[in-house]
Amino acid sequence: MRDMAVFFGELVRDPEGVAALAPSSAAAADLMAVGLETVTGPVVELGPGTGSFTRAILARSVAPERLTLLETSPRFCEELTARFPGVRVLNRPAEALDGLGLGSVGAVVCGVPVLARPATQRAILGAAFKVLRKGGFLNQITYVPVPPVPVAMRRALGLDVVRLGMTMANFPPAHVFRFHRFAER
Ligand SMILES: C[S@@+](CC[C@H](N)C(=O)[O-])C[C@H]1O[C@@H](n2cnc3c(N)ncnc32)[C@H](O)[C@@H]1O
Repeated sequence: MRDMAVFFGELVRDPEGVAALAPSSAAAADLMAVGLETVTGPVVELGPGTGSFTRAILARSVAPERLTLLETSPRFCEELTARFPGVRVLNRPAEALDGLGLGSVGAVVCGVPVLARPATQRAILGAAFKVLRKGGFLNQITYVPVPPVPVAMRRALGLDVVRLGMTMANFPPAHVFRFHRFAER
């Protein structure tokens, strides 16, 4: 209930940035965390909001000290810092990921809305794949059944995409895609 209240407050303040009516469900969060239990090294979450995906990431045996969150809302950052001791919470945009001194990142989990925001998509993917190690990947949630990044942009960035799954147990139903470098799947 508290998540809903905080989330709704931020939605009213920044409708374009939050771009969802409610926090993601546990089912959507579980899909977003697929594969993290086998990843080594740092893990980054972009756009964590009230922390639905953060909980699922930590539940996949990622130690809090390995996890960095980048969130533009100061209000969400306050909540995340209180809720997840040991996790590094940065009030920074996802697009700044490659300027934080992080390297050899094992995986990025992205909840930032990128659909119909091509400049944001490109900046986030570009920054993420500068810090992701060989074999690293980015999981992205979207509300449409196709990858939220057009083929031409994926090719320009040297990326391929696979569908991880979808769940109806989310409002709205959610689809999750994984981006990885060509020939590194
Ligand atoms: C759709 S909400 C998702 C929140 C959470 N991941 C969830 O699924 O419940 C999008 C989140 O991305 C954050 N956000 C939007 N643009 C961002 C950016 N450029 N960098 C980092 N966070 C951003 C918003 O403040 C919000 O917390």
